[in-house]
Amino acid sequence: MKENIILGVDIGGTGIKGGLINVENGEMITERHRLDTPQPATPEAVAATFKELVAFFNWKGPIGVGFPAIVSHGVALSAANIDPSWIGVNIADLLCKSSGCHVYVLNDADAAGVASMRFGAGKGEEGLVMMLTVGTGIGSALFIDGKLVPNTELGHLYLKNKKEVAEKYISKMARAEKDLSWAQWGKTFNKYLLHLQRLFSPDLIIIGGGGSKSFDEYKDQLTVDFRVKPAGYLNKAGAVGAAYYAWEQEQQLG
Ligand code: BGC
Repeated sequence: MKENIILGVDIGGTGIKGGLINVENGEMITERHRLDTPQPATPEAVAATFKELVAFFNWKGPIGVGFPAIVSHGVALSAANIDPSWIGVNIADLLCKSSGCHVYVLNDADAAGVASMRFGAGKGEEGLVMMLTVGTGIGSALFIDGKLVPNTELGHLYLKNKKEVAEKYISKMARAEKDLSWAQWGKTFNKYLLHLQRLFSPDLIIIGGGGSKSFDEYKDQLTVDFRVKPAGYLNKAGAVGAAYYAWEQEQQLG
């Protein structure tokens, strides 16, 4: 096994995706392999699918995993879009037991953010940079001079006069449910960005997930003072960032 190759995995509500990543340049050196997330996505069921994914690559080395929840010291502390039975589970230990590999876990948006900051739209960007992933939920990652402040969960902010958290109005799911065009969606998204501006005064926000691909269709709706860029890295970012994170952790452990 080469030391700069790590298996990166992105666990999502509908798919568990992974590939071998060269952490020196952020390239996925294999095809991306995707398995359906089992339903219900209980810890045991997901661990079994994870084992299958690792076996597909015949992988024995370290693994980085992006997971859609607050992840503190390997443990899931929330479950907004995943099975509630994950709360309190040590994800890293569980996936390590099922695969026999060293597993390092971080929040999925944090993972996508790490990929953007190291290899994508955020490369070389200093100051306060945020990544927002627009998917089933809204994920966030916050960086100060390139250093990650993990588990920010900004999709769970409340907007003025709204009864539910922001992601209920601006996620990919919310757009589909209300059958909104990207331009209509962009108006609400802009309100959310203005709220973030008020709270954080960011220098740059990078948009990932579905909101990245369609950026041109709603960018004219955005009236914020800070720069906004699409991630451009699309659906591999979670796996790439998770692999890079695992590699950093391995370096620290020596
Ligand atoms: C979760 C976050 C996650 C985001 C994107 C939100 O509902 O609370 O932890 O990063 O969805 O998957």
